[in-house]
Amino acid sequence: MRPNVALSPIDVSWHNHSARHPADRTDIRYPVTIVLLDEYLAQATALEQELGERLNAVEPGLRTDALKGNLKDWRLRLDDLQRAITAVPAESRREAGAALNALKRHFDSSITAYENRSASGATALAIDHTMPARERWRGGLHPVTLVIDEIREIFRELGFTVAVGPEAETEWHNFTALNFPAEHPAMDLHDTLYVDEGVLLRTHTSPVQIRVMQEYAPPVRVLVPGTVYRRDFFDASHAPAFAQIEGLAVDEGVTFVDLKATLTTFAKRFFGSARTRFRPSFFPFTEPSAEMDVECQLCGGSGCAGCKQSGWMEILGSGMVHPNVLTAAGVDAERYTGWAFGMGPARIAMLRYGIPDIRVLYESDMRFLRQVNR
Ligand code: PHE
Repeated sequence: MRPNVALSPIDVSWHNHSARHPADRTDIRYPVTIVLLDEYLAQATALEQELGERLNAVEPGLRTDALKGNLKDWRLRLDDLQRAITAVPAESRREAGAALNALKRHFDSSITAYENRSASGATALAIDHTMPARERWRGGLHPVTLVIDEIREIFRELGFTVAVGPEAETEWHNFTALNFPAEHPAMDLHDTLYVDEGVLLRTHTSPVQIRVMQEYAPPVRVLVPGTVYRRDFFDASHAPAFAQIEGLAVDEGVTFVDLKATLTTFAKRFFGSARTRFRPSFFPFTEPSAEMDVECQLCGGSGCAGCKQSGWMEILGSGMVHPNVLTAAGVDAERYTGWAFGMGPARIAMLRYGIPDIRVLYESDMRFLRQVNR
């Protein structure tokens, strides 16, 4: 057997047994290598010396298991040396074996010593492994986005899909098809931002009702989130650009009961156990129309400055889709009925998070966003 060690073995298989030529012998397998005792001991010493050097050169803080991994090649050569013991002539084998065992013990005790040393080293450095890491903030969603996502989720479960429409809209989609009379004050230059002749920045998301009905035959159930624009001053409660969410349901046999049940369900899901009420209202594109209020989220209904002592907060406008609107969008108003609503998620976000001034929502101040995204 040839030992896999970096020895310089002398092939003396024929020399020691000169009585017979190796080729004539049957008691040994070829090739035979004999390792002389001196060489074996020298090899053991060399391994011991290398181990010492490598232990001295270990980088500080290296864990014991990593150290053992680093010494793997050394261990393999120790194994080779062990196997090579059969190549040592029988009369020297005891001495060679003693040297081998001493080397093994030396290795084990070196590792144990290293382990003890690094354990006490950690204590000396007093590293606190339980200390929390420094917190990092990765940014967060805007409160209006959070509210829109939550509303979308509730209506998704109620069977509504999401539709979007253009922010630069035609006068026809924004007003005419929605049954606004030609001289309606909302169309005034003072109230609406016009882009061009007959084109404006939409003043509400309701024109998307028309676009959806033109594109899809009933039954229709859509939710339309989007930005709308009005020629308003930027103050504590008004902004010239803000978010709206429109809802539209059109099918055969749809009634006001569906409107009321759906919107009440939504309010219960979004605001918890808050009470709701419907008040008659007016929009050109719905008949009848109603506004929905929820119990004031700030005072719980007892009356405060936020709800002007009424105990209620208006959260949306709604109504049965006017037959003129269905007809303008190409839907058979004799066969189908529908209901719609529109709400302002910014108002709802202000209610939910107790934000007193709408302008905070537009400032992108990280300190504010961080509070909402806790
Ligand atoms: N579009 C109306 C608004 O901007 C809200 C509304 C939508 C009312 C749908 C009724 C039906 O105030």
